[in-house]
Amino acid sequence: MLPKRKPHYKFPLIPVSLFVSFFSFLFLYYYYYYSHSTQLPQTVTKISDTLQCSSQALALSEKFMWYAPHSGFNNQLLEFRHAVLIAGILNRTLVVPPVLDHHAVALGSCPKFRVVEPNDIRISVWDHVIELLQDGRYISIAEVIDISSLVSSGLVRVIDLRDFVSIWCGISLDLACFNDSKLQSSVSKSLKQCGSLLAGFRGNIEKCIYAINEDCRTTVWTYHVDGHEDGILDSFQPNDQLKQKKKISYVRRRRDVFRALGPGSEVESASMLAFGSLFSAPYKGSESYVDIHESHQDQRFLSLMEKIKFLPYVPEVMNAGKEFAKATINAPFLCAQLRLLDGQFKNHHKATFDGLRQKLESLVQKGPLPIHIFVMTDLPRNNWTDTYLGDLTSDAHNYEVHFLREDDQLVMQAAKKLTTAGYGQRFIPNSVSRIGKIYCSNQRLPDVLLYVEQAVCSCASLGFIGTPGSTIAENIELMRKFDSCSR
Ligand SMILES: *[C@@H]1O[C@H](CO)[C@@H](O)[C@H](O)[C@H]1NC(C)=O
Ligand SMILES: *[C@@H]1O[C@H](CO)[C@@H](O)[C@H](O)[C@H]1NC(C)=O
Ligand SMILES: *[C@@H]1O[C@H](CO)[C@@H](O)[C@H](O)[C@H]1NC(C)=O
Repeated sequence: MLPKRKPHYKFPLIPVSLFVSFFSFLFLYYYYYYSHSTQLPQTVTKISDTLQCSSQALALSEKFMWYAPHSGFNNQLLEFRHAVLIAGILNRTLVVPPVLDHHAVALGSCPKFRVVEPNDIRISVWDHVIELLQDGRYISIAEVIDISSLVSSGLVRVIDLRDFVSIWCGISLDLACFNDSKLQSSVSKSLKQCGSLLAGFRGNIEKCIYAINEDCRTTVWTYHVDGHEDGILDSFQPNDQLKQKKKISYVRRRRDVFRALGPGSEVESASMLAFGSLFSAPYKGSESYVDIHESHQDQRFLSLMEKIKFLPYVPEVMNAGKEFAKATINAPFLCAQLRLLDGQFKNHHKATFDGLRQKLESLVQKGPLPIHIFVMTDLPRNNWTDTYLGDLTSDAHNYEVHFLREDDQLVMQAAKKLTTAGYGQRFIPNSVSRIGKIYCSNQRLPDVLLYVEQAVCSCASLGFIGTPGSTIAENIELMRKFDSCSR
C-alpha cells in the first residue's frame, strides 16, 4: 500500500485561516444583522430596504397582496374569490396568479392539522410559476375567468403577476422562457431572489413585505365592523387525541382580517402582504380558514360580496360550450360529471354511478328516447368498457352519449381564441402599446377542456348529476344557479 502523500500545508494554511476568520466574521455580521434588524428599526431597516426591496417597489404608492393558489382548478378558483374579497377589504391591489397544474402544489389537511408552512407553499407556487413560463404554459386565471365587470366596478384593483414582478422586483418574468444559458444564469439568480423575498424567507421587512405565517392550524379570518370576534377561540380545535399523538399545541383563533392586517395595523406600511393558502372549507360547523359573511353594513363590502359569489368563465369558453350543446348534441340533455380516479374519489365508484343510474332510469320512463347524456370524467375513454359508462354507450336504443376530448376542433379553437383574447388581461393602465405583444414566443395552447366541459354542463336542460365532494361539481351547480348558459 502506498502511504498517502502529505499535502504541504505550510503556506496555504495562512490564507485558509484568514479565509476562515473572514467568513466567520461575515457570518457573525449577518447573524447579528438579521437577528437584530427587527429591534433596530430606523437605521438598519434603511439598509435592508436597499438590500432587499427594490427602490422602485418602495416608491410605489400602491400596496399589494398575493397568495399561494394550489390543488385543482376549482380549488384555485375558490381561493381566487377569497383573495379578491380580502384584497377589497384591505384596499390592496391583488396580484393575479396563473392557473397552476392540478398536482403541482398541495396544502395538506386542515382538519388533521397537517399542512405545508406558508413560506414553503409560497415558494412552491413561485417555482411552479417559473416552470410554467419556461414550458410556455403560463395562463393567467383572469384569462379563463371573466373579471372584467369586477375590475370595472372599482371594488378591487388587480395586477397581473408578470407585470407586478417586473415593477416590483425589476425583472421580467418573461425572461424565464428564453432558452439561453448565459442569460439564464443571471436571470435565474434575480428570479430566485425575488421569489424568496416574496415567499417571506427573508422575514418581514418594514415598508417592504409582510409575510403571513398564520395558517388554518391557528387562524380563521373573519370581518366585522366592530371586530367583536377578534381573538376569540374558534369552535373547532384539535382534540386531545390529536394533541397527544402529534404533540401539537395549536389553538385556533378567530381574527378580524381588517384589524389585524388593514389600515392602522403594523402591516399597513408594507408594500406587499403575502398570504399562504386561501383555501377554506366548512368542517364540523366551522370554516377552516376564511369565514367572512354578509354580517356587515358597509355598502362597498356588500357589493363586493355579491360580485364574488359567482365569477363566470370568459366568453371564449362559454361560447364553445354553448356551441357544442346546440350544434353537436342538438337536443335536451343530461350532464354527468364523474370523478373516478383521483384520491378520495377512487373508492366510491358505486355511489358515483348510483345517482346517475337512478336519474337515467326515470328519464327513460318518461322518454323520448334516446336520452342524450354529456359525460365529463377523468376516466380515459378506453377504460369505459367495464363500467356503467360502457353499458350506456352500448345501449344505443336508450342512450346517446356525448363527450369532448382535448384535441377536438371545438376545444382547440376555444384555446386559440382564449390566448389571442388574453392580451387584455394584463390590467396595466395606458399599456395600449403592449396589446397583442407576445411575451414568450414558445407559448403553447392551454388545456381548456375542463372549462369547456363545465360550460356544456351549465347548459344541460335535463339536469346535472355530479360527483359528491368534487369542487368541479360545486362550480357547475353554481354556474347553473346563476344561469351562466343564457347570459
Ligand atoms: C385605497 O387605496 C387607494 C390607492 O392606494 C387610495 O387612493 C384610496 O384612498 C384608498 N381608499 C381607502 C378607503 O383607504
Ligand atoms: C433549450 O435548449 C436545449 C439545447 O440548447 C434543448 O435541449 C431544450 O429542449 C431547450 N428547451 C426548451 C424549453 O426549448
Ligand atoms: C386503462 O386501460 C389501460 C389498458 O387499456 C390500463 O393499462 C390502465 O391501467 C387502465 N386505467 C384505469 C384507471 O383503469
